[in-house]
Amino acid sequence: MIHRISVLVGSLRRHSTARKIAINAIGSFPDDFDARLVEIRKLPLYDFDFDDPSVTDKQTPPEYTRFRETIKASAGVLFVTPENNRTVPACLKNAVDIGSKPNADVAWTGLPAGIISHSVGRMGGYSSQKNLRLALSYFDMPAPGQPEVHIGRSHEVVAANGLFVDESTDAFVSDYVTRFADLVRASARG
Ligand SMILES: Cc1cc2nc3c(=O)[nH]c(=O)nc-3n(C[C@H](O)[C@H](O)[C@H](O)COP(=O)(O)O)c2cc1C
Repeated sequence: MIHRISVLVGSLRRHSTARKIAINAIGSFPDDFDARLVEIRKLPLYDFDFDDPSVTDKQTPPEYTRFRETIKASAGVLFVTPENNRTVPACLKNAVDIGSKPNADVAWTGLPAGIISHSVGRMGGYSSQKNLRLALSYFDMPAPGQPEVHIGRSHEVVAANGLFVDESTDAFVSDYVTRFADLVRASARG
């Protein structure tokens, strides 16, 4: 059985470190996993009118529907995110909000969630990760325990070839991915 994992990156810029970390993490999944980047760039800003039964003249954007279907077809979701102004970048929060509706069919419910945060500072996106955990806490999403992954001074961790500079970073991220994969296999949605 192959477990499909959706990997969401909280940065839109071309040379995003989060994206590079995500690609490394994808390479660490076991053979019985199919982990893929899910692009969130073109998701329209969340507007509840699209999910409000009393609003009948606004059609749900197809991007919302596709995103929700992709998440619902996943056995788990891995978030890899930087920190913007001490919280989750807007593009990622927008994706969380879109997946959180409609109330009767929430894409996130019970889905195992992994979180990797990073920042150029020493805190490794700590506040971003905690804020993301807070937002997800509404959806009963199981997550790996300690140690959490906060990658500080992240502009120094990925080499020009896209791989981690230090073996220790690779081992740390791989260990997290292994624990996340174990959680997914054990989960009802996995
Ligand atoms: C709008 C904005 C806000 C930021 N706020 C924070 C912050 O609160 N804490 C922090 O450590 N770094 C902050 N940074 C620096 C980011 O950690 C850094 O730009 C990082 O490389 C962005 O991630 P990316 O490479 O995946 O795009 C901020 C950067 C931007 C552009």
